[in-house]
Amino acid sequence: MSVASGKIALISGGGAGIGLQYAKELLRNGLRGVTLADICKTNGENAVKEIGDEFGDDKVLFVKTDVTDRNQYEEAFEKTVDRFKNIDIVVNNAGVMNDAIWERQISINLVGTIFGCILAVEKYLPKYKTGSEGVVVNVASVSGLEKFQAFPIYSATKRAVVGLTRAWGKDVHYLRTNVRFLALCPGVTDTPLLRECLDRHLGPAYQDIMKGNLPHLNIQSAECVAKGFLHVLNTGKNGSIWVVEHSEPPYEIVIPSRKQFRKK
Ligand SMILES: NC(=O)c1ccc[n+]([C@@H]2O[C@H](COP(=O)([O-])OP(=O)(O)OC[C@H]3O[C@@H](n4cnc5c(N)ncnc54)[C@H](O)[C@@H]3O)[C@@H](O)[C@H]2O)c1
Repeated sequence: MSVASGKIALISGGGAGIGLQYAKELLRNGLRGVTLADICKTNGENAVKEIGDEFGDDKVLFVKTDVTDRNQYEEAFEKTVDRFKNIDIVVNNAGVMNDAIWERQISINLVGTIFGCILAVEKYLPKYKTGSEGVVVNVASVSGLEKFQAFPIYSATKRAVVGLTRAWGKDVHYLRTNVRFLALCPGVTDTPLLRECLDRHLGPAYQDIMKGNLPHLNIQSAECVAKGFLHVLNTGKNGSIWVVEHSEPPYEIVIPSRKQFRKK
């Protein structure tokens, strides 16, 4: 039986792209209800209609949320508990790839994720989880693990998301909260984020680098990432970091201690 069975999830940025597919995959695997916390009302309303048609209107709630505003993000948690009584799985998925507005990008990708983690682990999951364990899945990117020349600042936000997942994923936290932390690093995926990235650079030199990269990209579907996400949710150990790329099953990576990097 899946970890999703009988549970309630909140997905930031769940109105479109990969986040919407996470919601559907969870519902296919027995999820009781999902909140989509998204800044875009049109995306949110379309997603509610899609999910309602496929799984039933009682399964989904949209809360218009800007994750960079702690009060708005908390309202999404509150409304989830009001509607579904519980909250078990938080997916910090909302993100942009836009170095042209890099301060805002840091707010969405990193500050928003931190708000989501704090609300989940210090307040809502320990109190409102259905079973014995809550789960936070933070969405990073392979670009947070590699040198992504075209988007240095995006890359830094995703590296930071990996770092905070590893720190909150230490057992000392789990022992007091019963909340498992996981990070998922998708590879290149066919969504609006990818399709719209060409004018979202620091400047023309970066755009040229990206144009040079584009023909070599091995692009997977959002549905494929969602299948990998479910596997990670069901099997991933606390603090583990996973990659899902090239339309293949996800694999776990282990980041070595700094002592192994020491120059001889
Ligand atoms: N598409 C890729 O190739 C790829 C690869 C690796 C990681 N990712 C990551 O996966 C996540 C989802 O990306 P996607 O490709 O589905 O993007 P997307 O643009 O298709 O969807 C992102 C959703 O987030 C919402 N959003 C944006 N800013 C928000 C905010 N401030 N508050 C709440 N919601 C907000 C948008 O309205 C949209 O519905 C992001 O964190 C992204 O960095 C994507």
